[in-house]
Amino acid sequence: MKYICLIVLAALLKHAGAVCYSGTDPVMCTDTECNGFCSEDNGCSCGSDETRTCVPTTCDITDISRCCPSGYFWNSNIPCCSDEVTCDPPCLSVEKCASVNDVATCVCNVSTYAGKTIADFRPSLSCQTNVMVISVSQCLLTHLGYDYTNMHLLNNDSDICNIHYPEIVNNNRVESMQLKVDSGWCGNKMTVDSSKVYYKNSLYIGIQNKSVITVNPILFNFTCSYNLTMQTSLNFALKPVQSLAEFNGTLSAYKNPDYTSPIQANDTVEVGTYIYLGLFVKDADGAAFTLRVEECYATPTSDPLDVNQVYFVRGGCAYTNDVVVEENGKALEARIKVSMFKIQGQTNVYIFCNATLCPNTLGDQCNKCNNNVSLAKGSSYVQAMIKIQLSGKCNPHTAYHTELYSYSHLTVYTVLLFHINKLTSIQHTSVLHPAN
Ligand SMILES: *[C@@H]1O[C@H](CO)[C@@H](O)[C@H](O)[C@H]1NC(C)=O
Ligand SMILES: *[C@@H]1O[C@H](CO)[C@@H](O)[C@H](O)[C@H]1NC(C)=O
Ligand SMILES: *[C@@H]1O[C@H](CO)[C@@H](O)[C@H](O)[C@H]1NC(C)=O
Ligand SMILES: *[C@@H]1O[C@H](CO)[C@@H](O)[C@H](O)[C@H]1NC(C)=O
Ligand SMILES: *[C@@H]1O[C@H](CO)[C@@H](O)[C@H](O)[C@H]1NC(C)=O
Ligand SMILES: *[C@@H]1O[C@H](CO)[C@@H](O)[C@H](O)[C@H]1NC(C)=O
Ligand SMILES: *[C@@H]1O[C@H](CO)[C@@H](O)[C@H](O)[C@H]1NC(C)=O
Ligand SMILES: *[C@@H]1O[C@H](CO)[C@@H](O)[C@H](O)[C@H]1NC(C)=O
Ligand SMILES: *[C@@H]1O[C@H](CO)[C@@H](O)[C@H](O)[C@H]1NC(C)=O
Repeated sequence: MKYICLIVLAALLKHAGAVCYSGTDPVMCTDTECNGFCSEDNGCSCGSDETRTCVPTTCDITDISRCCPSGYFWNSNIPCCSDEVTCDPPCLSVEKCASVNDVATCVCNVSTYAGKTIADFRPSLSCQTNVMVISVSQCLLTHLGYDYTNMHLLNNDSDICNIHYPEIVNNNRVESMQLKVDSGWCGNKMTVDSSKVYYKNSLYIGIQNKSVITVNPILFNFTCSYNLTMQTSLNFALKPVQSLAEFNGTLSAYKNPDYTSPIQANDTVEVGTYIYLGLFVKDADGAAFTLRVEECYATPTSDPLDVNQVYFVRGGCAYTNDVVVEENGKALEARIKVSMFKIQGQTNVYIFCNATLCPNTLGDQCNKCNNNVSLAKGSSYVQAMIKIQLSGKCNPHTAYHTELYSYSHLTVYTVLLFHINKLTSIQHTSVLHPAN
């Protein structure tokens, strides 16, 4: 038994190449007259005299190294306070363990960076839904003569814009900074093209305060791009036509078939062009519900009960020929394409849509055309309204007759006349019939 122990001890010592503390000042906690113990608050001390510190041989406090005598470091493999510098937790692959002010500390292993230049400086950028995180390698920057603690956004060096913190990313110790995905926040510049929205900013990294300066500060431009969606596109529209319903559903109108270019409050829409009505809910449980638009209608006034209601969606489906319900009751987003019509003598139309959260337990009932009110019973509908300004250009009578209009314009005005005719009949009867 003794023999085996010796072999194990020898193997450990050989492996570690380390010598355990064996002195008498301070004493070992195991010494009988010391009767030592360790605590998180006070470290290790003798039971007989708590003002005397002692050297642990085993311990389960977090920072044992502080109980080791000067020049010794806790080595959990042996375990003891050994003269070999040991870092716990272990250092990253680009680092080495060294004694800094008598504390075992992970420092950059400069050999790893030999021959590296500014061309090797590649910050990592993580574009998340609400934050952009830019991270730079601490060791590389230090090696190249930069001071990563002096890093800030170029366009705004106020404190709230420049909170940076160390973290470990891909086994590399980096300094990271978080930015809000928000136009104008701390100098963020936002641009939009047809499919994406871009957020751009610039990072400044200063140089070390040395007598010989070999580098200039770094200016690093970075950009996060995000796909435009029905929802995100509203964030940067100046004044989108949109409204919120009770369950935080949003109805908005878009110019493009991708539902990413919102119609703005001062836009006018030419009669006969397609507009794209998007409805979505945030904060709803997509696993339990879908968003079902039950009906949509237009009126010449903001009164939802205006007698001149022109329905274009009923029972969750297209009610007239010039409407396509592109998506409904399948997700938390619904899409309706409608050729814009005008109500005689009016320059605005108000669009009302009733929508509900349809429980997925109803299965495909949520996306079926359903004129049976049973689905609606017990569901609470919310209604949202938007106002669309129509362009004054349109004169159906001349347009209808002129040869100069392109085919699409001709279609446009046919649609217009169709609606005006329908509206006339509504005024007389107050009863709606499906188109055609
Ligand atoms: C430091 O890096 C060099 C080169 O990569 C490597 O050979 C050496 O073992 C490293 N030193 C430590 C202590 O990890
Ligand atoms: C810096 O950004 C903050 C937050 O966006 C803002 O309050 C402040 O006015 C900005 N300062 C300058 C100089 O742009
Ligand atoms: C740069 O270092 C010099 C000498 O160590 C010191 O006097 C000076 O204050 C330092 N400057 C900055 C900006 O830290
Ligand atoms: C970084 O952006 C600034 C302005 O935002 C621009 O003036 C500069 O040329 C850009 N630098 C590079 C290297 O693209
Ligand atoms: C962004 O759009 C592209 C092309 O439409 C698509 O391939 C990609 O998956 C989208 N990315 C996200 C995060 O939705
Ligand atoms: C709607 O959103 C607001 C703010 O985002 C929130 O306070 C409110 O609770 C939400 N309402 C519902 C019904 O989820
Ligand atoms: C709408 O308003 C914005 C800002 O107020 C302006 O830049 C834009 O030119 C306006 N558009 C029209 C069609 O008047
Ligand atoms: C309409 O709903 C009633 C009551 O739920 C049901 O009995 C009837 O079969 C439904 N009709 C259709 C056509 O779905
Ligand atoms: C549409 O919503 C309004 C207001 O919430 C409500 O009065 C009306 O009955 C709803 N229509 C249907 C078909 O549920």
